[in-house]
Amino acid sequence: MKLIFLGPPGAGKGTQATGVSSHLRVPHISTGDMFRSAIKNQTPTGLEAKRYMDAGQLVPDSVVIAMVKERLAMPDCENGYLLDGFPRTVEQAEALEKFAAPDAVVDIEVPDEMLVDRLTGRRVCATCSGTFHISKLAEEKLCPVCGGELYQRDDDKPATISNRLNVYHEQTAPLIGYYAGLGRLKRIDGNARPEDVFQNILSSLE
Ligand code: AP5
Ligand code: MG
Repeated sequence: MKLIFLGPPGAGKGTQATGVSSHLRVPHISTGDMFRSAIKNQTPTGLEAKRYMDAGQLVPDSVVIAMVKERLAMPDCENGYLLDGFPRTVEQAEALEKFAAPDAVVDIEVPDEMLVDRLTGRRVCATCSGTFHISKLAEEKLCPVCGGELYQRDDDKPATISNRLNVYHEQTAPLIGYYAGLGRLKRIDGNARPEDVFQNILSSLE
C-alpha cells in the first residue's frame, strides 16, 4: 500500500507511523527525519535545509521532490510506502502523482491550541528516535525505551512553532481538498488516545 500521513505539526504523524508502517510492512519515510539526518551528517542538502527548518519554513519543492523520488526508487519501497510529512504543497502532490501516486491519504486532525503544548513538550531520543511528551516522562531524564539521551528539537521553540503552524495553514492544508477531490482522503480525529488513533487509522484503511 502507498500511504500518506497528512496533518499539522504535532498531530502525531511520527507517533502513529511507527506502528502503522510495521503493521502494513512498508517503510516509514519521514522527510523531516531525512533532513535532520542530513543536517547531522553535514551533507549539502542538510546545510541548505537547516536554514529553512530553523525558521519554520518549508524547504524548496525542488530539493524535497528530488530527495523523495530517489528514496521511493529504492528496493524496500517495491510493496509501497508510508510517507510522513510529504507532500506539503500542491506542487509536491502533483509531482508525486507522476512517480508514485498514493492509494490513500490519512489526515490526522488536531486543533491548533493543542498542538502548541504537544510541540513545546516533545522530547526525542537521540539513539532510537522515540518521541515522548514531558507530561508522560515524569522524572525520567533518559529514553524510557532504550536509555538514550532525550533532546528538544530546534524547531520546537515557541516562535518557530507559530511560523510552522502558519505555513501549514497556508501551504499544506489545501492538500486536504486536493485529495478529497481525488476520493482518497481519510479523516481521523487525532485528539484521542494514541492507541485509539491507531485503531481508527487501520479501520479507515480496510
Ligand atoms: P517534520 O519533521 O515533518 O515536522 P512536522 O510536520 O512539523 O511534524 P512534527 O514531526 O513536528 O509532528 P508529528 O505530527 O510527527 O507529531 P509527533 O508524532 O512527533 O518537518 C520538519 C521541517 O522539515 C519542516 O518544518 C520543514 O522545514 C522541513 N520539511 C519536512 N518535510 C518537508 C516537505 N515535504 N517540504 C518542505 N519542507 C519539509 O507528536 C508530537 C507530540 O505529541 C509528541 O510529544 C507526542 O508524544 C505527542 N502526541 C502524539 N500523539 C498524541 C496523542 N494522540 N495524544 C496526546 N499527545 C500525542
Ligand atoms: Mg514528525
